[in-house]
Amino acid sequence: MKAKIYLETHGCQMNVADSTRATKRLSSEGFQFVQSYDDADIVILNTCSIRARAESKVFNRLGQINHNTIGKGKIYGVMGCVAQLEGEELFRRSTMLDFVCGTGAIDRLPSLVSRILSGEKKVLDTGQRLSNENWDLQPADHDTNHTAFVPIIEGCNKFCSYCIVPFSRGREISRPAVEIIKEVTNLRDSGFKEVQLIGQNVNSYKPKTNEGLEEFAGATPFIRLLKAVAATGTNRIKFTTSFPKDFHAGIVEAMNEYQNLCNWVHLPVQSGSDVILKAMRRGYKSADYLDKVAAIHNSHRNVALTTDIIVGFPGENEDDFTSTLDLLKQCNFHGVYIFKYSERPGTRAANMDDDVADEVKTERFQQVENLQREVQIKIYGSYIGTKQMVLVKGISARSEADVFGHSTCNKVINFKGGTDLVGRVVEVKVVAAKHNSLYGELAH
Ligand code: SAH
Ligand code: SF4
Ligand code: F3S
Repeated sequence: MKAKIYLETHGCQMNVADSTRATKRLSSEGFQFVQSYDDADIVILNTCSIRARAESKVFNRLGQINHNTIGKGKIYGVMGCVAQLEGEELFRRSTMLDFVCGTGAIDRLPSLVSRILSGEKKVLDTGQRLSNENWDLQPADHDTNHTAFVPIIEGCNKFCSYCIVPFSRGREISRPAVEIIKEVTNLRDSGFKEVQLIGQNVNSYKPKTNEGLEEFAGATPFIRLLKAVAATGTNRIKFTTSFPKDFHAGIVEAMNEYQNLCNWVHLPVQSGSDVILKAMRRGYKSADYLDKVAAIHNSHRNVALTTDIIVGFPGENEDDFTSTLDLLKQCNFHGVYIFKYSERPGTRAANMDDDVADEVKTERFQQVENLQREVQIKIYGSYIGTKQMVLVKGISARSEADVFGHSTCNKVINFKGGTDLVGRVVEVKVVAAKHNSLYGELAH
């Protein structure tokens, strides 16, 4: 019998998509997947390196697993961003490891594992994806039968000064449009209700040819792809992440035209200060960002806008931080992911003095959180009395009598219901709101 594998995924949707692909490749070689590392012969961690804390989590987790399984003859591997960045060094930092599989080597994972099983020691592949490797997944390869992440572009060419992703994921590679459209069509035919087109920067989507997009007009290939994917008639289509500088008003027009393009845009601003934005090398000023926000708010649809903020970037003074708070007050974000700046080795910002004290970062973090809570109380409250189409995702963590799901504007909505509803899109009337979730009743 083939070895059993336990795969644990950390990090962003790209890692989730990669784990799905890795699972498919390994299953088709006969490997079986198990839910706990105790039951596994091979333990794999898919890792994230976006902030120092994410990376140290990997080493803590490896230590913990090693401690609990030592002497049991298991095989250990690391894949994902930490694997790509650290490469060979990982074998020194964590002597328990048997193999390291970089972000471009997922399709070669079965052969890495076979080499270990046939006795080879310390196997490493941090090479690039080969052009003949295809990214296709079948509907049955996903964890659920209702929601799927569909990568459209991998890697990043932006080199924001703080960010490790261009190093861990390499340069941008776009998937052929025909392949994406075929995958979405297959998902639709299998009853999937939602696809989320993913990429570090979806606006940079630039396939080698326009094949598949001929019938769809648009100022950028991404707009044309959005329309082509919408035209498949899939119930709900979301996309993330949008890079502000390249966010084209044509995206809003496409959303106005196709109702199945969901009314949610994630547009990370990072800071409201032009000095800091420049040091971050984001390529836009706060006024440019506000113009994009105005274009989104001008839509006749109620588009939910969310963002990311980094507090305590090198050199960020009180004035800079106040500009961030001001921008937040102007934008009415439906959600903000807040991060304390974390120095990443090898990035440009790592050469700057990380001069904002940790207590100040914490204080600014809390100020953003408090301000945003106030904003969200109002926004979430404004949904009371409305009806929302909810894709039911599972039983609520809080109460077994409730299920939870997501609205098209990407809000969590809880309501009374049973597991029979999971995977279905139902209409829910919102009756109560917290600052981060809604509560409703099934509408009849
Ligand atoms: N590609 C996306 C985001 C990728 S990373 C974009 O450009 O918007 C997700 C978020 O992590 C970023 O938006 C940023 O807010 C945060 N982040 C990235 N690097 C970071 C660092 N070194 N320290 C703190 N936060 C960071
Ligand atoms: Fe990182 Fe900037 Fe690329 Fe986003 S756009 S992944 S923040 S380098
Ligand atoms: Fe983390 Fe890599 Fe994603 S660093 S955020 S898993 S691209």
